[in-house]
Amino acid sequence: MSVCDFKQFRCFQLQKLLILTLLTFSTTFLIKYASIPCTLKDFQDGEDSTRSQSCREDLYKVLSLRTKEKGDLNCSKIIKGDSDAVKRGHQLNAVTKKITVHLNETMYLNITNDCHYFKEFRKYITVPMSKEEEDFPIAYSMVIHKNIEMFERLLRAVYAPQNIYCVHVDEKSKKKFKEAVRAITSCFDNVFVASKLERVVYASWSRVQADLNCMDDLLRSNVQWRYLLNTCGTDFPLKTNAEIVRALKTLNGKNSLESETPSQHKQSRWKYHFEVGDHISETATEKEPSPISSPIFTGNAYFIVSRDFVKYIFEEPQVQKFIDWVKDTYSPDEHLWATLNRMPGVPGSSPYSNKYELSDMNAMARMVKWSYNEGDITKGADYPICTGTHRRAVCVYGTGDLNWLLKQHHLLANKFDPDVDDVAINCIEEYLRYKTLYRNDL
Ligand SMILES: *[C@@H]1O[C@H](CO)[C@@H](O)[C@H](O)[C@H]1NC(C)=O
Ligand SMILES: *[C@@H]1O[C@H](CO)[C@@H](O)[C@H](O)[C@H]1NC(C)=O
Ligand SMILES: *[C@@H]1O[C@H](CO)[C@@H](O)[C@H](O)[C@H]1NC(C)=O
Repeated sequence: MSVCDFKQFRCFQLQKLLILTLLTFSTTFLIKYASIPCTLKDFQDGEDSTRSQSCREDLYKVLSLRTKEKGDLNCSKIIKGDSDAVKRGHQLNAVTKKITVHLNETMYLNITNDCHYFKEFRKYITVPMSKEEEDFPIAYSMVIHKNIEMFERLLRAVYAPQNIYCVHVDEKSKKKFKEAVRAITSCFDNVFVASKLERVVYASWSRVQADLNCMDDLLRSNVQWRYLLNTCGTDFPLKTNAEIVRALKTLNGKNSLESETPSQHKQSRWKYHFEVGDHISETATEKEPSPISSPIFTGNAYFIVSRDFVKYIFEEPQVQKFIDWVKDTYSPDEHLWATLNRMPGVPGSSPYSNKYELSDMNAMARMVKWSYNEGDITKGADYPICTGTHRRAVCVYGTGDLNWLLKQHHLLANKFDPDVDDVAINCIEEYLRYKTLYRNDL
């Protein structure tokens, strides 16, 4: 017989109090920033009550990434394509570029001494924003070599506590940079530096090996991630974690990356043996033909691949043979993934029939604007003119690119650089944070 029997009502109240207290103090459920103890339930899955709304508002006050420095800048208008707001953005960018103090290695080493402070100061979201996201962890392989602040802003933009992040720092990066990256990663259980670091030489095999090192480490982690995305230091997401989860679910086990029949010109990249020193150079030695029976395809370094794909490429002898064969080719990152994704038997791949050609614009992995055919899209151009600058024929996005960019289906875009246009990055940060908390557009 329970002690409560003759004081039924009081007992009920006590139980209720106990449950509430447990909920409030349970670390995973507590949104510790909020002034009233809003629980995860208040944000999750279609809760549209007044309380839910007020919880979101409280949380947004604390976690908003809009800064005072933005003055009369209106990112909402910029993203909607308002030409006055865009003009103001470009003006402000020229001014703030001179006065904005970027966080450097020393500062990161300082603020990460206290990880709790670091996460609060940099406004990390440390609880899963929905059950759906919690049940669908994503892995990231982040290959970087410089610009600590940009790395940390990218990490913050894609960060969710249920995901897992492997960071490959170039072996030849500055010591201070490596230390700062380690300091940042050590503040999170789910962010780590790759166990093996490569000296990355542009267009050489080492770029692929960096991703492979992360893939190997990620497979060994306890997190049962579903998909792997890779990023470099100049990428930035165009979608919230919730949107990424939904997009990956629609892939239904398939991978999504550029994979097309190579031009005559690109075929020379694997015709001869390439030599790698500080740079990569072509030799006169002709290579043996490819060891696999399916054709070679070209694409880019960026992929969205399933966990099964990653497991398979480490286990399958035919894939291992092909990997060995591409090691001395030019820019193997641009044909290895593209070819594996059309190779029969590879999980998530597509047939090599030309019906399955996938351009970079139709794949979901990365939005890149090449300079070759920018212009009026109503007159056949690939995309509108870049409003930032070009680097190696690739657009470094400016504020005026956002309206078009954020309408694309790609999960991430390349390239961004705070020295070219910090307002553009700022506005995406503000937009994504708003959308993460309110689930609708800024
Ligand atoms: C930006 O402009 C919209 C109107 O398009 C307005 O509702 C919003 O309050 C403005 N935001 C800021 C931060 O000024
Ligand atoms: C980082 O910035 C601080 C403050 O602006 C400056 O004193 C310091 O010299 C900088 N450190 C490095 C490594 O650039
Ligand atoms: C380092 O952090 C301390 C507080 O933790 C602060 O007082 C100091 O100004 C910081 N130094 C720099 C260079 O940011």
